Amino acid sequence: MKSKYIMISLFVVFLLFNPSSCSKSIVKNLPRFNGDLPFTLETGYIGMGKEDAMQVFYYFVESERNPSEDPLFLYFAGGPGASGLYPFLYQNGPLKFNFESSKRHNITLELNMYSWSKVANVIFVDLPVGVGFSYAKTWEASRSSDSLLAVQGYEFIRKWLAENPKFASNPLYISGISYMGIIVPNVALEIYKGKNFYCNERGNQPQLNIKGYLIINPLSDKFSDFNSRFEFAHRLALISDDIYESTKASCDDNYVYNVPANSLCAANLKRVDECIKRIKFGYVLEPVCNVTDMVPTCKDYTDTFIQTWVNYKDVQKALNVREGTIEKWEFANTTIAYDLKKNDTVAYSYDVWSTIPTHEQLLTRNCQALIMCADHDMVFPYLGTEKWIKSLNLPVERSWEPWFVRRQVAGYETTYARRGASIKFATVKGAGHALALYKPEEALTLMDRWLTSHAYLSSSS
Ligand SMILES: *[C@@H]1O[C@H](CO)[C@@H](O)[C@H](O)[C@H]1NC(C)=O
Ligand SMILES: *[C@@H]1O[C@H](CO)[C@@H](O)[C@H](O)[C@H]1NC(C)=O
Ligand SMILES: *[C@@H]1O[C@H](CO)[C@@H](O)[C@H](O)[C@H]1NC(C)=O
Ligand SMILES: *[C@@H]1O[C@H](CO)[C@@H](O)[C@H](O)[C@H]1NC(C)=O
Repeated sequence: MKSKYIMISLFVVFLLFNPSSCSKSIVKNLPRFNGDLPFTLETGYIGMGKEDAMQVFYYFVESERNPSEDPLFLYFAGGPGASGLYPFLYQNGPLKFNFESSKRHNITLELNMYSWSKVANVIFVDLPVGVGFSYAKTWEASRSSDSLLAVQGYEFIRKWLAENPKFASNPLYISGISYMGIIVPNVALEIYKGKNFYCNERGNQPQLNIKGYLIINPLSDKFSDFNSRFEFAHRLALISDDIYESTKASCDDNYVYNVPANSLCAANLKRVDECIKRIKFGYVLEPVCNVTDMVPTCKDYTDTFIQTWVNYKDVQKALNVREGTIEKWEFANTTIAYDLKKNDTVAYSYDVWSTIPTHEQLLTRNCQALIMCADHDMVFPYLGTEKWIKSLNLPVERSWEPWFVRRQVAGYETTYARRGASIKFATVKGAGHALALYKPEEALTLMDRWLTSHAYLSSSS
């Protein structure tokens, strides 16, 4: 009898200390940030897939308000191929990097007073593997796709909650930006579908308290979101009426694909391109610039600062990155990042074309969605998003109206609802693609008000 207990406890000890299945630690301070971090930051790896061949890195920030009751967000950066460190430092995370006082080899970090961790627990994840500090131990494990990524997101959150069970009952939201509009709804759907399976078949598994999802400037459809750039360019007066009209007359509502087949359309699109090619799609008020333009206003240049910082040995040590697992941390993995008309690569297959059917399925569950769109983003214009939401034919609960922050118009919003499910669609005035970078206070306010509006959900179920 006794030996059996010893065996069991040895096994438990093995599980606890087996470094390949999980490891996590609290980060007390970070190089170039003055003093101890005034929030709780945990970093770690979750082992996933066959024999944990995928090692998935994450940054977890506890809510600075009431971590045991505040919602839990799993946040995906865009790309695919952008690291979770990017939103952590540039968008809605607890730290930001000071553009004015930073130089490439000496960046300064400061607190982001509009961090989402003011009201929520947030996990910024490096997924798929090949991104940030996540790595694969086998070639098979390094390959991914849109559909696999949804399943991986589901596996990640289950395993993460198994390691952090005190957050298992917090309201859970899946969230992300840009390309992750293709992934986030599918992760949420995996969770809704898997929820019952997990409590029925294996009662000891954590039951996920999923409440909904939040997407920012999302890609939702690989035709209509790109196609909407043309209409958007006209609305923002980037192309003239006559260019707009002759293009519209010759292109048959398709400004993206099969263009060479129609020479009149192609010629018109060339004129459109002349008008917009020097404008930054991610923020149409600024010109295109690139990493060689060494001015602080050129984000493409300052973006590279983070890369210098995070590749310092002391930074990786502070983050508890496993030595020797990553050669060099890249700002974004361009091998897997998507662009219009990009074909599959050996590493990644872009196999989900549209998530509109996914949103439809989510609406049949008790699911709440917030969709934020910057109205100066031409990467995935609000127009494409507005159009597909309208196509769902949902009853309007609140009609289109302005919303305010400090008595200023912060954007416009409308809410659709059907049988306990809802979609709130909101624009953010004057923001660009990396929305919270441009309008941090507005982004936090919008997200917080949305949470508060259905806080009752956390006390039901
Ligand atoms: C780095 O920047 C900080 C703040 O701007 C400054 O005080 C410090 O002297 C700089 N360090 C180096 C090595 O240049
Ligand atoms: C990008 O991702 C691929 C596929 O996972 C991986 O093989 C490659 O090492 C990654 N590149 C970088 C710079 O991390
Ligand atoms: C970046 O800017 C430099 C100088 O303005 C220019 O010569 C170069 O072609 C640009 N590179 C890209 C990729 O646009
Ligand atoms: C993608 O593949 C198709 C068919 O093989 C090819 O015609 C096209 O040029 C490829 N696109 C790119 C961007 O490489």
